[in-house]
Amino acid sequence: MLDIYANRVEKFLDTVLVGNNSAPLLAVMRYASLGAGKRIRAALTYAAGESLQVDLQALDWAAAALECIHAYSLIHDDLPAIDNDDFRRGKPSTHRAFDEAQAILAGDALHSYAFELLIKSPFSAEIKVKQIEYLAKIVGKDGMILGQSLDVFSTDKKITTEELFLIHWHKTADLISAAIYLAAVAADNFAEIAERVQKIGYSLGMAYQIADDISDCVKSSAELGKTAGKDLAQNKNTFVSFYGIDGSKKKLEEYKNKINTELDELNIRNSKLHNLIEEIFQLIS
Ligand code: IPE
Ligand code: IPE
Ligand code: MG
Ligand code: MG
Ligand code: MG
Repeated sequence: MLDIYANRVEKFLDTVLVGNNSAPLLAVMRYASLGAGKRIRAALTYAAGESLQVDLQALDWAAAALECIHAYSLIHDDLPAIDNDDFRRGKPSTHRAFDEAQAILAGDALHSYAFELLIKSPFSAEIKVKQIEYLAKIVGKDGMILGQSLDVFSTDKKITTEELFLIHWHKTADLISAAIYLAAVAADNFAEIAERVQKIGYSLGMAYQIADDISDCVKSSAELGKTAGKDLAQNKNTFVSFYGIDGSKKKLEEYKNKINTELDELNIRNSKLHNLIEEIFQLIS
C-alpha cells in the first residue's frame, strides 16, 4: 500500500515542481524532493483520507505539501551547521551535490511552496484555512523547528528525559501528526474526531523517531541510505543514548500498543490507515 501512495505523490510532485528552468533553484529543489524517500507522510495523509471518507484526489496537494516541508527539513538537517551529513536517500546530500547556499535556498523555497500547494487544492476555503493554519503552526517556532533547535542546542549536553521527549515530539512527531490531521480536517465529523486523530499522529511520530534512533545504531549506511552511527559519533541525545537499544525497543512497543488503543477509540482498526501504520513499522524495524 505504501508504494501505491508513494508513487502517487511522486507523480504529483513531478508535475507541480515546475517553473523557471533557467535558474538553478528548481533543479536543486527537485534533486532534494524527487526520486527517493519513503513518503510515509504523504501516504499517511492518503490513508487517513481513505479511512475517514475524504476525497483522495483533493488530498494530492496536502500530500505533496507535506513532502516539500519534509524535504526542506532534511536539506537543512544535513547542513554542516546542523547534523553535517553527506548522504541522504542514497545519494550526496543537497549541499554536497550543489553547495551550501543553494541547499539553504532550495529548502527555503520548498518551505513556502508547501503553502502555495495547500492554497491551490480543490478543498473549500474553510478547510484550506484550517490546513494552512495547522501546518504553519506545527512546522514553526512551536513545532518542528523548535524541536530541531532543541536538538542542536542539547547536543553534547546532559538533558532530562522530559527534554528528550520534547525534542522528539517536536522535531518529528509534529509533522507526522500533521500528515494525518490535514486529511482529517476535511472529514465531515472532524470536530468529533480531531483530538483522537491527533493522539494517533503523535504516538506514531514518537515511535517513528525512536525507530530512527535505533536504526542509526543497528543498520548499515547502505540499508539506511544515510550515514549510520552518526548520532553516537556526534554525541546526540537519542532514545538509544538514554535507554539503550533494548530499552528503546521497549518504548517503541509501548507506543505501538498505544496506537492500537487509539485506533480502536476512533473505530478505525483494520482500516487503510491501520494497515499502512503496520507496513511502516515493518519497513523501519
Ligand atoms: C527522516 O525521515 C527524518 C526523521 C524524521 C526520522 P524519513 O525516514 O521519513 O526519511 P525519508 O523521507 O524516507 O528519506
Ligand atoms: C531529523 O531528525 C528531524 C528533522 C529533519 C525535522 P534526524 O536528524 O534524526 O534525522 P536523520 O537521522 O538525519 O534522517
Ligand atoms: Mg537532526
Ligand atoms: Mg540528521
Ligand atoms: Mg536520525
